[in-house]
Amino acid sequence: MLLRSTILYLARHKGLRRWVETSRAARAFSSRFVAGHTLDEGLAVCRKLQAEGMTATLDYLGENVASLKDAAGCRDIYLRMLQAMHEEGVEPSVSLKLTQFGLDLSESACEENVAALVSAAASVGGFVYVDMESSAYTDRTFGLVTRLHQLHGACGTVLQAYLRRSGRDVKCLEREQVRVRLCKGAYLEPPEVAFPDKNDVDASYLALAKSLLENGAYPAIATHDWKLIEAVERFTTERGIARDRFEFQMLYGIRRDEQRRLVSEGYRLRLYVPFGEAWYPYFMRRLAERPANLFFFARYALAK
Ligand code: FDA
Repeated sequence: MLLRSTILYLARHKGLRRWVETSRAARAFSSRFVAGHTLDEGLAVCRKLQAEGMTATLDYLGENVASLKDAAGCRDIYLRMLQAMHEEGVEPSVSLKLTQFGLDLSESACEENVAALVSAAASVGGFVYVDMESSAYTDRTFGLVTRLHQLHGACGTVLQAYLRRSGRDVKCLEREQVRVRLCKGAYLEPPEVAFPDKNDVDASYLALAKSLLENGAYPAIATHDWKLIEAVERFTTERGIARDRFEFQMLYGIRRDEQRRLVSEGYRLRLYVPFGEAWYPYFMRRLAERPANLFFFARYALAK
């Protein structure tokens, strides 16, 4: 727990970020979780996954942009991503963060940027997932996504099982039939806001998953936790919930054995595929989820 908190604290450290992003060993190690630096590299991974029976949602790495000009630049990159996926015959699905689209600078400019993207996604039969960041952004994210969902469809968001409030939020998202990706939650949160104990997070996850599977709109069960995956498999079989009414989601590069198993058993599986240069905060959250990664990384860096 202390190690996780320390890594997540360091994820926001600017000096360390500069040092790590220019380190050759860190760049090479991060390629385990990141598809590459360019859109072409991201697309190549999407095509490969499609050939293996999976779908992808493409993420251009970045968060907390410093200017509205940068936010508009991110929007334009996302518009190109959707178009390129459409032209390549890959299902156009992207995942973004609102702070990458300018939420910290202007809520209205951010909403215009995301609306342009969601409207473009709707026109090519695509979909936009708005990732969930720290709890400082939860209300604004649900508000924006619900408004755009009512206008265009073609967008959904993320529910974090570690948040104490999620039992209430799930009801609103179900009522609006907003598509939800359910995950455990990856940010540093105080105990008043998020369950500190893993058992509580897992119990919350399963309760939310059951609710979404029965009442939600095509939920995404996003976890690598095999106990939860098995519990969901049992629940859907018992309740006769067909395999095309939901999907599993996992992160690129994590639990490839479990990914192959799910696909071979006829489940739908989408991988979250990040690409780009700004990989440090994403990489640190992956280290925090599994501190063993830190030791693999240290061994790797020493061997370089
Ligand atoms: P848990 O952390 O208990 O891990 C279960 C097992 O999975 C581990 O024992 C290990 O084997 C494996 N594993 C998990 N993480 C690993 C890692 N980094 N490296 C190696 N093995 C690992 N969070 C958020 O706050 N906002 C968001 O928008 C999203 N979006 C998102 C999309 C998708 C598709 C996924 C799968 C996850 C997210 N997350 C997220 C991250 C999520 O909140 C959570 O931090 C991770 O998925 C890890 O939690 P698990 O459910 O996998 O369980």
